[in-house]
Amino acid sequence: MTVRITTLVENTVSWANLLAEWGLCMLVETDNLTFLSDTGTTSAAAQNALALGVPLTGVDVITISHGHFDHTGGLLALMQLIRKPVQVVGHPQIWGSKYAYHPGEKMLEYVTDCEYEYIGIPYARAEAERCGARFTLGADPVWLSDTVVTSGEVPMKTEYETIDPMLLVWEDGEYKPDLLPDDLSVFIKTEKGLVAILGCAHRGIINHLWRGLELTGVDTIYAVVGGTHLMAADDERIEKTIRELKRLNVEVVAASHCTGLHAACALEHALGDAFRFNNAGTRITL
Ligand SMILES: [Fe+2]
Ligand SMILES: [Fe+2]
Repeated sequence: MTVRITTLVENTVSWANLLAEWGLCMLVETDNLTFLSDTGTTSAAAQNALALGVPLTGVDVITISHGHFDHTGGLLALMQLIRKPVQVVGHPQIWGSKYAYHPGEKMLEYVTDCEYEYIGIPYARAEAERCGARFTLGADPVWLSDTVVTSGEVPMKTEYETIDPMLLVWEDGEYKPDLLPDDLSVFIKTEKGLVAILGCAHRGIINHLWRGLELTGVDTIYAVVGGTHLMAADDERIEKTIRELKRLNVEVVAASHCTGLHAACALEHALGDAFRFNNAGTRITL
């Protein structure tokens, strides 16, 4: 099994003539399935696909890692390049009314609750469906092929991985903590072990990896690619995460997006050649 991952958009770019933005979108090609993991924030992923000469007409499925704008906003533009109806797999809660809380910040004085920033999907479901998106939404894992499976809801098992309390959801007339039940990843079975494709890993990178092992029965993680959401993690969490990555003998950690410079430096220092940046234009063959 060969897995080829082309990062179409990320916070940074690896070479000229590509666009960067706060967001993530990766094209993942396996022997029997081609899928997009997330869509980035804007049309940048679609524009980069054109600039890279990467055709998207072969995309079978789009997986949505969670309902934040930086993973979903580029869907409509990508649909224009896919040019056919396509299955979009995620959790029902991607359509939750999601907010980030910025206490004390007054960006717009005349908006009374401007400390609450809407960070959910920036279009209506009907609009996406009109463009060809065919949603398959559920809490359970979905096998997309014999060797590719979505995580479904990821149990919170480690004691050191917690969800950012500033992430909220508007429900029943009030802001509540967003527990991100929609936080999904994708696992690919290969001869060398599992390849884990992450979006933001809001529920914790290790919780995601443990979920993949439990779900597939595979006993090794070969590679981890995508967002790790370690940007606000303290040193203790970063250290425990690194310790577990080493214990699991992960051979490739290609970190993106919400990893943050501090955690990226710590990962590079601890993992050496096993670590790499994964930004727009990067192509990884596993
Ligand atoms: Fe997110
Ligand atoms: Fe994100």
